[in-house]
This record gives sequence, C-alpha cells and structure tokens, in this order.
Amino acid sequence: MTALSVSSLLRQRADYTYKFNSKTGRHGWLRLTPAYSVKIVEEIIDSCSQAKRIIDPFCGTGTTALSAAYHGHKGVTTDINPFLVWLAQSKTALYSDKQISTTYEACAGALDLVRRKAVEPILPPPLHNIERWWNPKALFFLRCLRAAIVTVTKERTPEQALLFIAFCRTLIELSNAAFNHQSMSFKNDSQLNFDFDSDMALTFSEDVRFVLNGAKENPVCDGHVIFGDSRKISDVVAGQFDLVVTSPPYANRMSYIRELRPYMYWLGFLNNGRDAGELDWQAIGGTWGIATSRLSDWEHSTDGFKNATLSQSLDQITHKDNKNGIILANYIAKYFDDMWLHFQSLTAVLNRGAELHYIVGNSSFYGTLVSTELLYAEMLTALGFNKIKCHPIRKRNSKKELVEFDVTATWK
Ligand SMILES: C[S@@+](CC[C@H](N)C(=O)[O-])C[C@H]1O[C@@H](n2cnc3c(N)ncnc32)[C@H](O)[C@@H]1O
Repeated sequence: MTALSVSSLLRQRADYTYKFNSKTGRHGWLRLTPAYSVKIVEEIIDSCSQAKRIIDPFCGTGTTALSAAYHGHKGVTTDINPFLVWLAQSKTALYSDKQISTTYEACAGALDLVRRKAVEPILPPPLHNIERWWNPKALFFLRCLRAAIVTVTKERTPEQALLFIAFCRTLIELSNAAFNHQSMSFKNDSQLNFDFDSDMALTFSEDVRFVLNGAKENPVCDGHVIFGDSRKISDVVAGQFDLVVTSPPYANRMSYIRELRPYMYWLGFLNNGRDAGELDWQAIGGTWGIATSRLSDWEHSTDGFKNATLSQSLDQITHKDNKNGIILANYIAKYFDDMWLHFQSLTAVLNRGAELHYIVGNSSFYGTLVSTELLYAEMLTALGFNKIKCHPIRKRNSKKELVEFDVTATWK
C-alpha cells in the first residue's frame, strides 16, 4: 500500500469517527470498539428501518443497543460479563440536564476531597503485578479518587456511573501502558505521601467533560441491557425480535476478561484471578487461566455440533502439536458447540422473516484455516434459516486469509 493510500485511509476513518462522535458521542466512551465496527452496525440498522425490535445477544460495549436506541428502535442486548452489562446500561441510559450538572458538581467535590487529603484511599485493587500498571504516585491518586467518587455520590446513581466511566478512562491514561513507562515497585503506604497532582486531576476533569458531553446526546429511547447467557437466550429475554445484529466472540483465543481486567478490578467486578478464570470459562471462546486448563478434560457432548469439515480441521490441529494440539482442538470444538446452543435457543425468540447479521472473523491454527462463517452458515441451514450468505467485510490483518464477514440469514 502506498503512503498516499495509507494516509487517505486514516483520514477517512478520522472523518468518520468525527462525524459519528459528533452525533453519538457515547460510542467512544471507553475506546473499546473500533470506529469501523460502529459504522457497520450503523449501516445495518439504517438499512432495516422497518425492524421494530432489535436484539444483540453479545452486547460487549453496547454498540448495537446504542445505535438502535439512537434510531428509535426497541433494542435488547445480553452479555455474560457484568462489567459490560453495567457499561452498556450506562451508555444507553437517558440523562437529564440536572443529572449532568450534579455530576459536574460531584466531580469538583471528589477532586476537592483528594486535594485536601480528606478521604481515606481504597486498598489497591488485587490486580496481579499492579506496579507494572501504575507508578506509585498515579496509583495513590487513583485510590484516593476512587474513594472520593463513592463519598460524593450515592450507589447505583447516574452520577456515580458517569464518574466511574470517566475514572475508567483516567486509569488507562495514567497507566504505564499509556506512557510506555518502566514499572516501579513500592513496598508500603508510608512511601505514599504525595502532593496533589494537578495534571492528574486535570486528566480526570477532562474525562468527566468528555463523558458528560456524550451523556447530553440522549438517544431517542433507552436500551434494555440484560445480564445473561446467550446459549439460553430464550430464557433470558422476553418477546420476539425482527432483527439480530451482533458481533459474537471469535474463535481466536482472545479473552475479554484479560482485556478488561483493569476496569473490572478497580470497579469491584473482580476480586481475584480465580474468579477471572471462572468468568472466562463461562464466556464463549474464553480461554484464560482456569478456562485453559479445563479444556484439556473437556468432552464433546453427544448432541453437540457435528460437521465433517470441522472434524477434519480438528483432527489436523490435534496432530500438529503434541502438547497444545488437543487443548486447541477442544477449544475450537467447544466454541462451535456453544455457538450451536446459542443458535438453537435464538430461534425461539425470532419473528417470522427476522433478519440476522453476525459479524465474525475466521481463524487459523497451525496453518489450518477454520472458516467460522461457513460453519455458522451450516448451523443456520440445519436450523431452517433461509437466504444464508457470508459477505466479506474486510481483511483482519496482514495474513491474507483472515477476513471478517457479515453472515446474514432470514428466519423462516
Ligand atoms: C465480540 S464481543 C462483542 C463486541 C460488541 N459488538 C461491541 O460493540 O463491543 C463478544 C461479547 O460476547 C460476550 N459473551 C461471551 N460469551 C457469552 C455468553 N455465553 N452469553 C452472552 N454473552 C457472551 C463477551 O462477554 C463479549 O462481550
């Protein structure tokens, strides 16, 4: 690709982000969803204006729910991660001018408490090797600020949620990861007699301003975000849906818990590594900590998804590497068993003619390509869906065989 085309691509993306954020600022609150994903979801929802009820069974940061709410559709979404449920609920909520101004006041109150050292810092969150994340000064500031936020706001209020989202932005901005700084170890609180750092306070104030600017841009209606397992979606949501727009987990060994752990520990959604592994074991495609060790004993259920191409790929992967081949093959088999359970359960909540959009990428293990999109298409065919298509959307990285697809289908 030439330098010119790279820069024009970047410009297009920046223009889009700007345009999009100026309309719907909340999509960028935690910078977890790339702009192109938001754009794809927007385009699908725009093109399905007749859909009355939209569902996203894999909510993540709430992209579909928020887009649906901005377009005035009744959107329902579920996720198995309680932090993401909280985030999406906060993103899709409606905020009054009064709540926005009381949040500004609460921000000023919290920073004043920190400045006057009038608040007892919380204990450092039990995040493994925390000193790799924050230098002692930043960590102490965050501990005081976290304590101050709960002092100036009531539990489960919009003000507290909005300040916590800004706090999540700040904790990443103050992290060593953001500055590429070396980690510094420290031993006890006696070293932590720091002066108030106005730059850190300014970072938080700016994050609060950013979040509140997004909060002002209320959607037409709020979203309905539910904690639950999409393998049993029919037990979790009520009523029937006309449109499914979702990006399910990919079979690529990415752990959402791993990615989200700084936020989850600071906000109290996680308290130890074991719980983190347990949560990842519940998640489709999760593979962190205990989730990986359990895979070695995992057994394919008799009524799991069966497919000749998949069996062949699993066989190849099993025999490519003696040590990891079995675990990896089990990981992939479990992923498709889980998605099979999900699609079966989904049929119970669809209206006749409902349209499906699953944005998903394929994967490659030891040179064996696993065509997730085609396997989804097979599952949908087996369940009686019509008009099944796999539309390539974009290449995922330099490996030319890794592509993202929009798998579409219509319920009979
Ligand atoms: C690819 S992400 C979704 C990204 C989302 N479109 C966004 O905008 O951020 C997949 C999501 O599926 C969730 N998930 C995994 N297993 C699940 C299950 N069994 N039930 C519900 N959600 C699950 C994960 O927690 C993760 O948030």
